[in-house]
Amino acid sequence: MAQNSPAQPALSWTVVGQGAIGLLAASRFKLAGWPVQLWLRQPAPVDICFNQQPLHFAYATVPLTAVLIPVKSYAVLSAVQALLPVLTPDAQLVLSHNGMAATEHILPLLGPAQGLWFITTTHGALKQDATVHHTGQGQSVLAPLNAAAKNQHLAVQQAMDIALGPVKLTDNILPFLWHKLAINAVINPLTALYNCNNGELAKVQYQQQINQILTEVCQVAEAAGYPLQYEKMLEKVQQVIQSTAANFSSMQQDIIHKRRTEIDAINGYIVTQAARYNIAMPFNTQLMQQVLQLQHRTRD
Ligand code: PAF
Repeated sequence: MAQNSPAQPALSWTVVGQGAIGLLAASRFKLAGWPVQLWLRQPAPVDICFNQQPLHFAYATVPLTAVLIPVKSYAVLSAVQALLPVLTPDAQLVLSHNGMAATEHILPLLGPAQGLWFITTTHGALKQDATVHHTGQGQSVLAPLNAAAKNQHLAVQQAMDIALGPVKLTDNILPFLWHKLAINAVINPLTALYNCNNGELAKVQYQQQINQILTEVCQVAEAAGYPLQYEKMLEKVQQVIQSTAANFSSMQQDIIHKRRTEIDAINGYIVTQAARYNIAMPFNTQLMQQVLQLQHRTRD
């Protein structure tokens, strides 16, 4: 990775927050010799141990030219609103979260030369206190969401290849988001409810539930115009379970740390979409309710 990185990156990157995926990306930038800084609620530097290496991240100095925003779906709008006053007129913003991208409120906030992107990733990362582990090799799909992004595609693609690569570039992120949604709809609620790592889901006792969830997701994806082949999808889910076996999913971690989960944007999104097409979703509805109950219990 480091050998292929240019001596002078075209853009200087800032990562928002200190979640597992954000710190994975920031660490990979740093280890590839790229300058990178963090934008946090509390303006302070951050020291972590990444894959057993101590790394130091400075707090962001403004203005910001290129920003990776790997915050939860429900926090994206307020994160972008907070960034707006410190962005350069041609800044590039890359969103990354589980669930569907809801960018209709974000695009109108940006200037004509400010690019908006989305990157969806299957990398697994786990943060425990100040330690971050890259727990699962994955891959990512990156898409420009406006014209200003398309003009900068080489620089952003090169950077995302370092941070969350290997990266595939696409013009239409939606099929990939449905694909990732199917993976998250299985792994995230089950690991949260059974309080287990992703690898546990390879056991025979979970296979019936996995099949039930996935069958429903494939039905609604088809109705929405993004068909997913059940057999292929099942194989992909099993692959992610294997490749991130040691990882605790983001939803399991949210429950453990008494945080709000992304259930609304994952199984909740599936249930809402299904209602539009009059498709019954008993398993996803039940899962959603169970996770919501668990979330209320742990956060009270
Ligand atoms: O949300 C997560 O934890 C991740 O998207 C994934 C790929 C399921 C790995 O844990």
